[in-house]
Amino acid sequence: MAQYDVVIIGGGPGGYNAAIRAGQLGLKAACIEKRGTLGGTCLNVGCIPSKAMLHASELYELAKKDFAGLGIKAAIELDLPQMQKQKSETVTALTKGIEYLFKKNKADWIKGAGRLDGPGRVIVTTDDGAEQVIEARNIVIATGSEPSKIPGIEVDQTHIVDSTGALALSKTPDHLVVIGAGIIGLELGSVWRRLGAKVTVVEFLDRTIPGADGEVATAFQRALTKQGMTFKLGQKVTGASLVKSGKTVKGVNLTFEPVKGGPAETIAADVVLVAVGRRPNTAGLNLASVGIETDPRGFIDTDHFRTKTPGLWAIGDVTHGPMLAHKAEDEAVACIELIAGKAGHVNYDIIPGVVYTWPDVAWVGKTEEELKAAGVAYKTGKFPFSANSRARANHETEGFVKVLADAKTDRILGVHMIGPQVGEMIGEYCVAMEFGAASEDVARTCHPHPTRSEALRQAAMGVEGWTMQA
Ligand code: NAI
Repeated sequence: MAQYDVVIIGGGPGGYNAAIRAGQLGLKAACIEKRGTLGGTCLNVGCIPSKAMLHASELYELAKKDFAGLGIKAAIELDLPQMQKQKSETVTALTKGIEYLFKKNKADWIKGAGRLDGPGRVIVTTDDGAEQVIEARNIVIATGSEPSKIPGIEVDQTHIVDSTGALALSKTPDHLVVIGAGIIGLELGSVWRRLGAKVTVVEFLDRTIPGADGEVATAFQRALTKQGMTFKLGQKVTGASLVKSGKTVKGVNLTFEPVKGGPAETIAADVVLVAVGRRPNTAGLNLASVGIETDPRGFIDTDHFRTKTPGLWAIGDVTHGPMLAHKAEDEAVACIELIAGKAGHVNYDIIPGVVYTWPDVAWVGKTEEELKAAGVAYKTGKFPFSANSRARANHETEGFVKVLADAKTDRILGVHMIGPQVGEMIGEYCVAMEFGAASEDVARTCHPHPTRSEALRQAAMGVEGWTMQA
């Protein structure tokens, strides 16, 4: 019987990073993954393929709409099969890369589905039904999450799709209706709008991207509306029915009604994307065999990744907190370091969020709404990209940077941005905040000219009222 120091169930960003870190620290480690490739949702059907499609569709739209103004003449044509192919090639290369990293760090990949079998034991079942028992001093649950469903609306991955189906459409739908104005809905809605679909977003709340700063969310909705997306906010979806002609499905009729009451509305869609959140993958793990119950929503309670059963740990989407790959990765490192007797730690105040659309949305720390609710006195510095020279040179002037700092100490409490590629720039503020920086520290740090990053500095200057370039 195979025996390990650490066995991790799940090979996504939580699980694979845990296996790599365990190998680095000299622990005998294995990662159990049932999918044919490592990398979990993120690499296979989430972050990576969506970014490949976002990048390609962004360039397609840019070429069609903006090349002429830049003095470039070109006849542009969409080759969707090739766009899908380059996406798949990227996914394959990256998942193979994780296999290489496992070998490099002497972590085993045990192929199959893992389920607990009492403390310290995991049974792994392969596709052909064969079973093996693995023993481990520590077991880390990193089984991630799956798309939430709406009761009565069945995902067939053709006409009613979740994020996985929406990444693999073989043709641009004439009308894509997205349920949920969260990150997935707006990223994938952006992909298909750029590729020619009419996109309508139906959202339960009165706003987009819940959790993001309200002012940024409002600006974001305005930007997407200007690009052609239609928003139906404050609407509760009540049903979806397939429209058939004989045996052929022609589309979907989606019905929704105002949350506050009022007449229902039905719209015809070619494809409906259900993007209403994700739920933890904890069913089927036989948690009862180790005395663990999930909360009513399926999450596993932990204290610094420890469950209440000694030797059993949980990280990533199966535990509480934002369902983000980088949060899972941080938890993986900290959890394994604790197992190895080191001082692993995650700073949950500094987990950035990014929506990889155009413009990007990026944030870290507290929103204005959170600071107001907590009664924290804060000062604000703001700078628009329309006043940033590089953004102007690139004709990418939409958006702004907002820095929130403690009114007394000047410590940076939150940063919220909408603008060109701000997702690539939020890391600067993550580092600053990790070091406990004041806004003045950023304001007095030399930034290269001409770059969009200067907007980050000018916004920090604004906290003390000395923004110079707007
Ligand atoms: P989400 O929680 O971000 O948004 C779901 C939206 O659906 C919410 O606005 C909610 O109010 C709405 N909703 C729920 N039920 C509804 C109903 N019946 N009718 C209409 N609207 C309804 O979830 P999303 O976008 O599915 O993403 C899932 C997770 O994946 C999130 O935690 C997200 O952070 C993560 N993710 C992160 C990405 C990134 O970092 N760029 C990319 C994609 C996903």
